[in-house]
Amino acid sequence: MVTLANNLLSIKSLSGSGTKSEFNYVWLRDNCPCSECFHPDTHERTLVTATIPENIAPKSANINDSVLEIIWNENNHRSEYDLDWLRQHDTSQTFYSDDPAQGEMTLWGNELQDSIPTYDYTDLRTNDEILLAWCEAIRDIGLAIVRGAPLEEGEIERFADHVACVREVIYDRLHNVRATPGAYNAYNVASTSLELKPHTDMPNYNNPPGVQMFHFLVNETEGGMSTAVDGFHVAAQLKQQDPEAYDVLTKVAVPFRMFSSRGDVYSANPMLTLDCSGALKVFRYSNQLAQTLNISTSQMDDFYRAYRKLGKLVEASENMVKFRLNSGDMMATNNLRVMHGRTAYDALTGDRHLQLSYMDYDDVLSRIRMIKKARKHGKS
Ligand code: OGA
Ligand code: ZN
Ligand code: ZN
Repeated sequence: MVTLANNLLSIKSLSGSGTKSEFNYVWLRDNCPCSECFHPDTHERTLVTATIPENIAPKSANINDSVLEIIWNENNHRSEYDLDWLRQHDTSQTFYSDDPAQGEMTLWGNELQDSIPTYDYTDLRTNDEILLAWCEAIRDIGLAIVRGAPLEEGEIERFADHVACVREVIYDRLHNVRATPGAYNAYNVASTSLELKPHTDMPNYNNPPGVQMFHFLVNETEGGMSTAVDGFHVAAQLKQQDPEAYDVLTKVAVPFRMFSSRGDVYSANPMLTLDCSGALKVFRYSNQLAQTLNISTSQMDDFYRAYRKLGKLVEASENMVKFRLNSGDMMATNNLRVMHGRTAYDALTGDRHLQLSYMDYDDVLSRIRMIKKARKHGKS
């Protein structure tokens, strides 16, 4: 049943008849669940991984009932592993995920127009199952609308604190967007009545806020429709149509900067940042905040060719949803993936004032885990 060879402990038929599950010795030793190796109260690892000797190996390994027991060649340390736990963490069978916040992304274009996830404000504040659905929509679709929030200043900040917590940026916890000359400092295009092209907010941070959310205290103007574009979807189209252009945008560091009298935040990162498996992790796109490119002259043509192609996909009507938000409505996006914007409006036709706040994406995932945990323990 259990065999030992080549730094691997093998168990036959652990995950079904005929299969052979293999576990690395150092990995097993590193994950010994005993109270000497993991603090029983904090569940943090107390065993120092780097001190596990290279020649660590079981002196003996046996399965009794539903437990694998190992006596190690170092200090006769004894480890017990639940077979269910081994099954779930069987790296030789599958890449496992034991994250309850794990989701599945759906890429979208204009076909989302009539099915944008939309929630009622009061439901979200009073029912954690609906809040869970909202969090999951941010995770899987990257866009959600909330209707009917109170017309009170600071509501978006309170909402962020209800979901998770506010991610502060240099300017404010709460940011006002309004085109009233003199009332607010029109240091960027959002505070004018001009069109605001699809963009992600704050790409000038090395770690941009993961969720951007705003709330209309009033929206009575003609025009000023809200727009959104799935950046991961347009990136996937670019990759398929022109893999070289995609590659360029994963490698060229584009500098972004946002500054005012209160701050000056600058960083340079690729518009398409990949994770260690090569999958797209962060999409940055803000025409207005991009700074003078500082790359070698010989790279310029390739970069601008790639940028032009991506930009055309961003502007393509089949990739964009457009919707009206009224006074009291909120909208939120996964700001590491989905762009938002608005059409131009006529400031003479009425007042328009929104308040904006951010959260970190990790804190939304955290809320998903917490609601699921509470559900498991019968509380909500
Ligand atoms: C912004 C923004 C949207 C709007 O301020 O970054 O995207 O509708 N505003 O004004
Ligand atoms: Zn131990
Ligand atoms: Zn914005």
